[in-house]
Amino acid sequence: MTTYPRPEPGDQPPLLYPPYAATVRRAPAMPPIPLPHTPSELTGPLFGHHPIGETDSDLTRQHAGDPLGERIIVAGRLLDEDGRPIPHTLVEVWQANAAGRYRHASDNHPAPLDPNFTGAGRTVTDGEGNYRFVTIKPGAYPWRNHPNAWRPAHIHFSLFGPAFATRLVTQMFFPGDSLLPFDPIFNCTADEKARNRLISVFDWETTVPLQALGYRFDIVLRGRDATPMEE
Ligand SMILES: [Fe+2]
Repeated sequence: MTTYPRPEPGDQPPLLYPPYAATVRRAPAMPPIPLPHTPSELTGPLFGHHPIGETDSDLTRQHAGDPLGERIIVAGRLLDEDGRPIPHTLVEVWQANAAGRYRHASDNHPAPLDPNFTGAGRTVTDGEGNYRFVTIKPGAYPWRNHPNAWRPAHIHFSLFGPAFATRLVTQMFFPGDSLLPFDPIFNCTADEKARNRLISVFDWETTVPLQALGYRFDIVLRGRDATPMEE
């Protein structure tokens, strides 16, 4: 029987990684049971209720004023296991503001919300698999995983794929972040090379003079060079 290639051990985050405390509660205790996909899982795409608007990929232009913080550009390509581009795919991002606060009911971290920053964006890859966001560099924020736990700056990514069942979710980090060696979500991918694929690359070509620093983050969906994904 033909099967999709499986990742090498350590190349993807395990479901259970005790230093990342939430996995202890949510990791399945029994082996998974394969279920056949239903037609609604196989058909699509399902891009939400509204078409993608002009400012959806520019998180700095979604309100009347400019958000606070360091303006950045995050751009890259969506690639398959052979390095071929994956075109016309919905890429969604969400992130904290420059102070490390999410605009979300369950975030009560005592840092200010920014009235000019929602922290959510979306775009569709072009014919060559390219995507590009303009945003604000997110701040680090504390969480309750362990005493004095802080998440390194990161941007959450969702790649929708052709149907709901194919959605993949991951996080992008920033080069040189002092908190990376201490972050269990980053470190739960055991293989160092695989883990480092989650770190974006500072890039002069993506940088816009007098406007914004640029970071490249290519995402490989599967195969030997696959980006680690959250289950
Ligand atoms: Fe986060």
